[in-house]
Amino acid sequence: MQDTFFHDLEISDADFNRMVNFMQKEYGMDLSKKRQLISSRLSHSLRERGYRDFHSFADHLLSKKDDSEVELIINKLTTNYTFFLREKDHFTYLQNTILPELVRRHKNDRVLSIWSAGCSSGEEPYTISMCLKEFFGKEASAWDTRVLATDISPQALAKARAGIYKKPADMPAEWLNRYFTEDKATGQYAVVPAIKNNVIFRSFNLMDPIQFRLKFDIIFCRNVMIYFNAKTRDALVSRFHGAMLPASYLFISHSESLGQNPLFRMTAPAVYLKR
Ligand SMILES: C[S@@+](CC[C@H](N)C(=O)[O-])C[C@H]1O[C@@H](n2cnc3c(N)ncnc32)[C@H](O)[C@@H]1O
Repeated sequence: MQDTFFHDLEISDADFNRMVNFMQKEYGMDLSKKRQLISSRLSHSLRERGYRDFHSFADHLLSKKDDSEVELIINKLTTNYTFFLREKDHFTYLQNTILPELVRRHKNDRVLSIWSAGCSSGEEPYTISMCLKEFFGKEASAWDTRVLATDISPQALAKARAGIYKKPADMPAEWLNRYFTEDKATGQYAVVPAIKNNVIFRSFNLMDPIQFRLKFDIIFCRNVMIYFNAKTRDALVSRFHGAMLPASYLFISHSESLGQNPLFRMTAPAVYLKR
């Protein structure tokens, strides 16, 4: 939040570079062109915590003695913008093309494994959970379709776990009725338990090795790698490849690209099939 009465704190080149390097190395985010963003998003909280300048904050942060400094900069410097049914044609493709195919493939084990990597405040994994419910209908209870949803932002994950939102825009009326309960007093909308309980939220840094119990049929990693440089992105995409089942799907956003990656083949706009 912009501080109404005070100027943003000054940040020297050296301290800016130290913080940029930290975010790049630990979380993959390239903030080298975001000097203004760093100073405007952090100044208020730094003052509140008694810091007089970025220098002492950077010292404290880099010594990594205090998790709350790390948490602060993750909460403040990640961009958590998201909404229900974002890039709608992805969900149409999921329901009409991918799920019928996966159901044939998994007719014996009846387990689908889907990961929303960089789930922010939960709108993406809950949308996936709604699509699963739409697709499976009464059969849903015969399948294990739990969606793993991960992020590094504690603030975004807390909102995701609560599952309470202002009225979702552009949501079909039937979905709004079926999948949300409106609190008339507050005007807020709560995701219903059948959708909520099908999503498992965890904190996970995408720079870490991927060692989940199951390999994935589908990974959504949309609007996350835009903050990474090409080298970090390519390394993550090959870790995704290793964590996926044969002929499984990777969704990225329409504004991203995998470059000329030999590990995947595009099957629909921003949807890739593992080779
Ligand atoms: C713009 S949101 C995208 C949300 C959703 N996938 C969508 O497309 O609407 C990007 C999210 O990526 C997360 N993120 C960034 N770097 C990350 C990392 N290294 N590990 C895990 N999550 C990360 C941020 O915290 C943020 O919530």
